[in-house]
Amino acid sequence: MLLVSCVLVLCAGLADARPNIVYFLADDLGWNDVGFHGSNQIPTPNIDALAYSGIVLQNFYVAPVCTPSRSALMTGKYPIHTGEFFMTLSWTDDLILYLRFDTHLGIWAGKIDMYDHTNMETGFWGFDFRRGYEVADDLFGQYVTDIYTKEAVKLITRHNKSEPLFLMVSHSAMHSGNPSEFIRAPDAVIDKFKYINDTQRRKYAGVLTKLDESIGKVVESLQKQGLLNNTIIIFSTDNGGPAAGFNDNAASNYPLKGVKNTAWEGGIRGAALLWSPLLKMPSRVATQKLHIVDWLPTLYRAAGGDTSVFENIDGIDTWEALSEDLPSRRTDLVHNIDDQLGYGSITVGEWKVHKGTTYKGNWDKWYGPSGRVGKYDIELVYNSYSGNAIRKIGRMPSKNITLDIREAATIKCDDSIPITACKPLVAPCLYNVDTDPCERNNLANEKPDILQMMLSELEKVNQTALPPNSKEPDPLANPKYWGRVFTNFGDYEHLNEK
Ligand SMILES: *[C@@H]1O[C@H](CO)[C@@H](O)[C@H](O)[C@H]1NC(C)=O
Ligand SMILES: *[C@@H]1O[C@H](CO)[C@@H](O)[C@H](O)[C@H]1NC(C)=O
Ligand SMILES: *[C@@H]1O[C@H](CO)[C@@H](O)[C@H](O)[C@H]1NC(C)=O
Ligand SMILES: *[C@@H]1O[C@H](CO)[C@@H](O)[C@H](O)[C@H]1NC(C)=O
Ligand SMILES: *[C@@H]1O[C@H](CO)[C@@H](O)[C@H](O)[C@H]1NC(C)=O
Repeated sequence: MLLVSCVLVLCAGLADARPNIVYFLADDLGWNDVGFHGSNQIPTPNIDALAYSGIVLQNFYVAPVCTPSRSALMTGKYPIHTGEFFMTLSWTDDLILYLRFDTHLGIWAGKIDMYDHTNMETGFWGFDFRRGYEVADDLFGQYVTDIYTKEAVKLITRHNKSEPLFLMVSHSAMHSGNPSEFIRAPDAVIDKFKYINDTQRRKYAGVLTKLDESIGKVVESLQKQGLLNNTIIIFSTDNGGPAAGFNDNAASNYPLKGVKNTAWEGGIRGAALLWSPLLKMPSRVATQKLHIVDWLPTLYRAAGGDTSVFENIDGIDTWEALSEDLPSRRTDLVHNIDDQLGYGSITVGEWKVHKGTTYKGNWDKWYGPSGRVGKYDIELVYNSYSGNAIRKIGRMPSKNITLDIREAATIKCDDSIPITACKPLVAPCLYNVDTDPCERNNLANEKPDILQMMLSELEKVNQTALPPNSKEPDPLANPKYWGRVFTNFGDYEHLNEK
């Protein structure tokens, strides 16, 4: 008995210190769509303020598409070790209960029209917005980013401050919606970007501005509630940006090569930052490698947990390496092996190999916009919601430091490196991504030994891969059978009568 109560007291004591964790996950945001990577085109002052006062995760890697990336985040396992390669609409949707969230508001499929909250894909069309298991048709017509902002602020405001908070804000932005109008934001916001001639990119700027504002308002609310100085914040994308009309969208990964769903750096090197007063060395560009699978053990550790509870995960606890700027155990990365699409790619230290590629190589180029014209307004960062909130707890660095960080976080392709032929469908390509992050110079012919080493590593990883568990869309999932709402149809009986 005594032992039990001692343990309980100890737990209560620890509970007070455990940090809050807020994860902002953007959908389809490009490397070059955040101001802190050097673009002047679309200001993201709230995100930038977090980056400069936290750490810029310059070598953060994600899966090339959304569902695998999200499953990697939640399980700490690479998609090849969960079989979760593609978007799957769970036919029995116990995910929310399974993950043990207290509340959930949002979508069940992969994307949404930002105003009417319907989703159209693979010939299906239906409403898809839920509050828990209830269909949230009362929110019809409200801009989705504003809905998430209000909900997050509400949850923070009513949170019991003697318990740690875990808040996952998975934004629908920047994913494109339905064919009627793929990219939507309030007209008044889009109109601020008349200087952007490309109309899709101008709309994208509107969506991004709303996303940035949302993050600022949530950070402000954490500060107002007195939670901010014991909070860990992560902002990241789920995969590289769909640029140049890919997925009917207008992201930018400049100057990185490729787009979403390719293994080029533009598809897998994700815009990201880590923010917390618990970081021992903040306000710098962290060059430690990191993969989205690493968050599970890393955050568990940061919250005081013992990571030996995790068995058979790919994720590595990188908390000390990130917090104290120490060498990290994460040196190698599995980007993906997908035999249906016909490619595999891994990084080992500075080397990266591509065997095969997606889309027959049609998206293996460099795309803009660079966003390097115009100037960067540093005042916007300090006057943003985040900037003010962080200043109030005494953690905004000086402007010199801020601008130095931005300079260091801006990748410049080395034009003196030749662009040499790479035909990954014919022969594997090899790059040194430390010296050539833009993947210009294919060294496969020059470095045959390293190429062999990389291919045998890839082969080793391939032997551990599970077959993909993706299924053909089930016609019974069609929302037309379910009151035009995307439904956990597998949970209902009498399916055959439909
Ligand atoms: C808040 O959490 C503490 C610690 O778990 C608990 O003792 C207290 O009753 C909670 N307060 C409310 C209002 O639920
Ligand atoms: C946008 O279009 C206007 C009018 O055609 C042109 O003068 C301007 O240079 C263009 N701006 C950019 C950034 O291309
Ligand atoms: C956070 O700030 C509040 C109010 O200023 C203070 O009471 C608390 O001790 C601080 N917590 C930490 C971890 O610094
Ligand atoms: C992985 O292994 C399978 C089965 O042996 C093979 O068909 C496939 O080509 C391999 N994939 C890669 C990327 O090497
Ligand atoms: C910031 O820059 C100014 C002017 O360039 C310089 O005088 C000052 O010493 C710098 N401060 C820091 C903290 O580096």
